[in-house]
Amino acid sequence: CGIVGYIGYREAYPIILQGLQRLEYRGYDSAGIALYDGNDLKLSKTKGKVEDLKNRLESEISTNGSIGIGHTRWATHGVPNDINSHPHVSNSGNLVIIHNGIIENYDPLRKELINRGYTFTSDTDTEVLVNLIEDVKIKEGVKLGKAVQIALNQTIGAYAIAVFDKTKPNEIVVARLGSPLAIGVGDNEFFIASDATPFIEYTNNAIYLEDGEMAVVRDQKKLKIRKIKDDSLVDPYIQELQLNLEQIEKGGYDHFMLKEIYEQPAAITDTFRGRMLVDEGIIRMAGIDDHLDKFLNARRIIIVACGTSWHAGLVAEYIFEEFARIPVEVEYASEFRYRNPIVYKDDVVIAISQSGETADTMAAIKLAKGQGAFVFGVCNVVGSSISRETHAGAYTHAGPEIGVASTKAFTTQITILTLIALKLAKHKGKLSNSEFRAYLQELERIPAKVAKALKSNEQAEYVASQYKDASNALYLGRGYNFPVALEGALKLKEISYIHAEGYPAAEMKHGPIALIDEQMPVVVIATKKGHYEKVVSNVEEIKARSGKIIGIVTEGDEEVKKLADHVIEIPETLEPFTPLLATIPLQLLSYHIAVMLGKNVDQPRNLAKSVTVE
Ligand code: G6P
Repeated sequence: CGIVGYIGYREAYPIILQGLQRLEYRGYDSAGIALYDGNDLKLSKTKGKVEDLKNRLESEISTNGSIGIGHTRWATHGVPNDINSHPHVSNSGNLVIIHNGIIENYDPLRKELINRGYTFTSDTDTEVLVNLIEDVKIKEGVKLGKAVQIALNQTIGAYAIAVFDKTKPNEIVVARLGSPLAIGVGDNEFFIASDATPFIEYTNNAIYLEDGEMAVVRDQKKLKIRKIKDDSLVDPYIQELQLNLEQIEKGGYDHFMLKEIYEQPAAITDTFRGRMLVDEGIIRMAGIDDHLDKFLNARRIIIVACGTSWHAGLVAEYIFEEFARIPVEVEYASEFRYRNPIVYKDDVVIAISQSGETADTMAAIKLAKGQGAFVFGVCNVVGSSISRETHAGAYTHAGPEIGVASTKAFTTQITILTLIALKLAKHKGKLSNSEFRAYLQELERIPAKVAKALKSNEQAEYVASQYKDASNALYLGRGYNFPVALEGALKLKEISYIHAEGYPAAEMKHGPIALIDEQMPVVVIATKKGHYEKVVSNVEEIKARSGKIIGIVTEGDEEVKKLADHVIEIPETLEPFTPLLATIPLQLLSYHIAVMLGKNVDQPRNLAKSVTVE
């Protein structure tokens, strides 16, 4: 979910509305805003998107007021309907709250409150929380901040909340545990949001609350941060943001996803900039250099991640094992954390996360730390929770990724993991100087090759037009291209809602081959270096069963061309780098199919970009 709040001298409504639009990537099942206009609390909320809210709100309530909060929701408790949408108001009608996260013990708390005479209109844990705060406030006769603190100490769960009291409309109380919360600090005004994008044009100064902290922000430039548990005061640490507005706007593209696909040459360059010194034959990364022994003595590397980041982890497994000869295991963070895994003190755990906020990945990190392992983070969002929870790390520097389906985060994650693997390989003596340099030189050429692969856009669009009505698709690849097949299938599922499966090409004969008929498009990644002859045999097997073949091939390929219904060419590169190129046409293919089907490319149904619930 995404939360936004404002207190200051401006009209709160336009700031909150636009902020919610920027945060919609975090969830868009429902949305709502509460404003205090000097006389009364105005509230409007609805199932659907922020645009639906805008249409409804502006005819429903007046939009005046310089204090307010807003929410865009990814449903956890209760179906996405108007009643379950946030903000939620307490029984007295005085307190209003927005909440991102889950209160796990809401049921006993709710029962207790019902016994004390409270009534509930929604199914949400949030309505329980706001009434608990109210109950404490009345019972203990304390101020809002104190009441929030006492109430939160009775809850189990995760939250980022913002709450205010219409009878004292000069302060907003915020708190965080497990869900991100940033405070924008302006002159005599404060902004509250799940990330800094809602307030970037108003201020560059931001405070990121740490887990277990709360803050009371008052108009007139006053702010106090405390620890929720023991009430101790915390010195506010104000960071200067590097983000600019242009980075979070579409810049002429129809969708963020397309923009982000096209940003990949630059994003990959940004990832290795300053880290890879080709002429000197050096890879320099502070996060690794400072802990080199841990990596060189690692018994194993365990990679934990979710979704697309997990696919990047699979590519990294091949790269680490091939170059650095360190055994690697790649785990879904959600499985790892719940299955009593064996973690040795000399294991290195690498957590990969674009957002740096994924709850399952965070929990996996805590588990690994608890067992004494060294944990390294690969995140894109600077200052994110995971980047702070890990012992060390490296940012991908891909720039903000807003489309929910991940694109440039994936290729930059692979890039950085490749740099790490090459660096370790060199230190372990697994690559000669000249081999090492040859890899660096080729990696340096990758952005230009990605740019060339992007030229397949029109062709991808044509292929999309031929298969947009398919109800299933199969993606096959071997070796380095197997994770690419998984990622290609995931992209199609996510944004076009066409069922797709990725498979190791050779495994096709153990099951999926039964699905193949003339209705079934099969995307085969058949690049020259990736077990080419074997993949060609797989293509023959598909052809023999009348499957429709879309080959992703190396420039100049002849053999697959003869067999396939369509081919899309990518430039030649060294085998370990093919995922960076082969992924591109697959991203474009799903993009165009989704557009042709009229789907919401940037905000596919039921998904969220940053999944801060388990
Ligand atoms: C969500 C997103 C995916 C993403 C995954 C992991 O499911 O929709 O695109 O790959 O979370 O997110 P992370 O931020 O940890 O990489």
